Parts: sequence; structure tokens; C-alpha cells
Amino acid sequence: MEKQLQNFIQENKQRFLNELFDFLRIPSVSANPENTQDMLNAAQFLQDKLKIAGCDIVEIIQTEGHPIVYAEKIIDVNLPTVLVYGHYDVQPAEPLELWKTPPFEPTVINDIIYARGADDDKGQMFTQVKALEFMTTTNNLPCNIKFLIEGEEEAGSSNIGTFVKQNKEKLKADVIIASDTSMIANDVPSINVGLRGLCYFQIELTGPDRDLHSGVYGGGVPNPANILCKMLNSLFDENNKVNIPGFYDDVYNLTEKEREALNSAPFSLEDYKDEISIKNIYGEKGYTTEERTTARPALDINGIWSGYTGEGAKTVIPSKAYAKISTRLVPFQNPQIIKDIIINHLKNIAPDSVHIDVEYLHGGDAYMSPTDGIEFQAASMAFEKTFNKKPIPTRSGGSIPIVALFEKELGVKTILMGWGLESDAIHSPNEHFGIFNFIKGIETIPYFFKYYTELKK
Ligand code: BES
Ligand code: MN
Ligand code: MN
Repeated sequence: MEKQLQNFIQENKQRFLNELFDFLRIPSVSANPENTQDMLNAAQFLQDKLKIAGCDIVEIIQTEGHPIVYAEKIIDVNLPTVLVYGHYDVQPAEPLELWKTPPFEPTVINDIIYARGADDDKGQMFTQVKALEFMTTTNNLPCNIKFLIEGEEEAGSSNIGTFVKQNKEKLKADVIIASDTSMIANDVPSINVGLRGLCYFQIELTGPDRDLHSGVYGGGVPNPANILCKMLNSLFDENNKVNIPGFYDDVYNLTEKEREALNSAPFSLEDYKDEISIKNIYGEKGYTTEERTTARPALDINGIWSGYTGEGAKTVIPSKAYAKISTRLVPFQNPQIIKDIIINHLKNIAPDSVHIDVEYLHGGDAYMSPTDGIEFQAASMAFEKTFNKKPIPTRSGGSIPIVALFEKELGVKTILMGWGLESDAIHSPNEHFGIFNFIKGIETIPYFFKYYTELKK
């Protein structure tokens, strides 16, 4: 297979890239209702490419939100089935003025593709489609394959959960793989074995029924912006722990051995700081950066607004103040329990001079991949084959909510085979993805299929 793979990549590399660029030109921003047609266009693009890659069935399935793309190629019902998960939606590109190249016009600079979605997740997911094309055209597909690609991951995966629950037979598989995470470095391959969960809220505080003159009323009425700041500040204690009763109750505490393993992965604090231009790190006392960002929960304000934010000064007491906050969860915190704990707490600490509304937007469980089964072994062998190094198991702080739901509803574990880098600026301006990473992904996947099918026998 090795020679065939090399030849195939050599001969088709430019075409693969051109196809990816066409995919990246479709602004499939799930959060923006103006992009609804683009979402459909992206789904149809994929449908077309999955057919070309050899799938016998390719469906676009409507949901209450954006469509799901489902595809399959069943070669023998007695052989194992691998289900590939990915998402074709992307984050909004704003703020546009910070992009050095247009977000939806992919631009290659020094063998790196710049575009929204280049890594997360179009570039990564497309490696799966092209790997299938290789396997089917060269007669190297050793087992059955299914694809489940959603268009709402970046918006909280609201509808795919229902689809999974209602289509257990259709989605039946022995293992799920997803390319939507990152590696430590191109010469330090790693496999992600842990994701954090999530709980997302929007808070609305209302004071007076209209904006007021801050001289006439200042000092005598509740200013919802002042109060919101005070409330949010009280959510953290002096050690930067989350100061909400019950929040840590179900947190799995790492053993010394697990802490050692987590902290032994190559990591440079200086590079970490330099890369995002921060003077110093910040976080929960008693834990390292690695622990804080992967195995410990976190609470962050994601957005905050109120009052006058235009040019110059306006002396005003706002009527309303808003914040979007999210928590990253770890095993065994339950998003439903955390949701109640946080909403009740916010209502408790809001003074009676303001009205508070807390809306829960979405959430999902944390996830851990097994490292002792043949799924991980096959992935590890595949990485070792193409990167010439054994991959290191690592955890990530990000979330892919559907992965825990797959385990709960389908009883199937997901192996996270991501080719991106943490420095790829996903969700940020100038998101990018190395051509090296794109090609390495296409090259590595067929080995996973081969080794997994062999080990499964
Ligand atoms: N692909 C990311 C998650 C990710 C990135 C995991 C890097 C590990 C390493 C995914 O698209 C994402 O951004 N997820 C969201 C989930 C949310 C919108 C429900 C996240 O983590 O914020
Ligand atoms: Mn993603
Ligand atoms: Mn994302």
C-alpha cells in the first residue's frame, strides 16, 4: 500500500488542494442566518465529493437547523464498520479587519493555507474524504465506512443529538474517528485522548426601564453594568478557583501518576506565552498550565456589553447589561447539574434592585478516549508509520459535545486523530492549516483502517 499511497498523493496533491480551496470559499458560518444557503452549498459540495470518493449512499438530511451529511460504503456486513465524524460549519470570521488575507479566499503562504475553516474543520475533515478516495480507487478499503458530517458543531450541535438518538441502527459502527483536534507539533505527533465538556449561558440584567442621565441619577439607582461586574467578579476566589458552591463536587481529581503523565508531554511555557503575547500566565492556584487547560474546569466570560460603547463619552446609566459566560467541564461533571448550580447561584447573588434572566444556550459532557483498546493501538501504529514516531497521548481543553453523546447513545468510542496544531489560530483571525498536515492526514488514515481491521479479526 505504501507505494500506491505515495504515488496517489503525488499525482493528486494539487487537485486535492484545489478542491479544498473550493470548499473553503463557501462561507458556511452556522451562527449566521444570512449564510443558510451557503450551509446547503457546503453540504452539497460534500455530497458530491463523497460520491466521487466511492460512497454508495450519500444523503443530505434536513434538521431543524442546518443539514447533516450522511454517507456510507458497505463492502461486507461481516467486516468492521468505521464511522467518520466531522463538521462542515465554521466559526464567524469577524473581526475582518484583523485578517491579513480574505477569510473565504484561501491563500497559500509558505506552504500554509490561510482561510476560515482551513483547520477547523474543513481541512481536517477533508483528509478523511480524500483518504477514502485513495482506498476505493486503489482497492485498499479493508472494511465498511460511514460518514456523519454535521453543520452545527460550532453552534452547539443542537440537532445532531436527536438524529443520533433516532438513527442508532443506521449509525451502527465498531469505532468512530474524527479529525478535529490538534497535535503537539509536526515532529511531535500526538493523539488527543481527552476533551472538556461545556456549559454556555447568557445573562441579562435589567435596572431602570431606560438609560438615565448619570449625573441626575448616578449614585442613587442600580446600574446593571456595575452590578454585573460585581457579580461576575465574585464568581472567582483569591486563588482563581470558581467560587460557586457545588461546582467542583463531581470533578475527577487526577492521581499523581496522571498528573505526571500530563506534565511530561513536551511543553514550553516561554513559547506558550510568546505565541499569544502574554506577559504571564494566569489560573487556578496549585495547577500547571497543562492541567489548568485540560483536566481542570474553567469559567470564562466570553462576551460582555452594556451602555454606551461608541466614540467619545456619553454620561449614561444603562438600563441593561449582558454577558455570555461558559464553563469548561471535566469528568465527571454533569452539564445538566452544572447548569442548575450556575443559574441558581447567579439568581441568588443578584441584588433585588435588578431583574436577572439567565438563558442556557448549550452544553455537553467531557470525554475520555480509551488508550488500552485496539482502536487506540491502530491509531498509534498509523501515526508511527507515517510520522516515524510513536504519538504521545495528550488531552485538550476544547470540546466536541457530540463525542460523549456517541458513547452514551451508540455505545461507541471515538478516536480523535487530528492533524492540526494548537498554533493554527482556529476561531481566530488568520486561521491556517499546513499543507504538510493536510497531506499527512490523508496518508495516515488508510493505515488506521488497515491496522484496525487486522486487529479486529
Ligand atoms: N475542533 C474544535 C474543538 C477542539 C479544538 C478540540 C482543538 C481539541 C483541540 C471544535 O470545533 C470546537 O471549537 N468546539 C467548540 C464547541 C462548542 C462550540 C460547543 C469549543 O470547544 O468551543
Ligand atoms: Mn472543530
Ligand atoms: Mn471549532
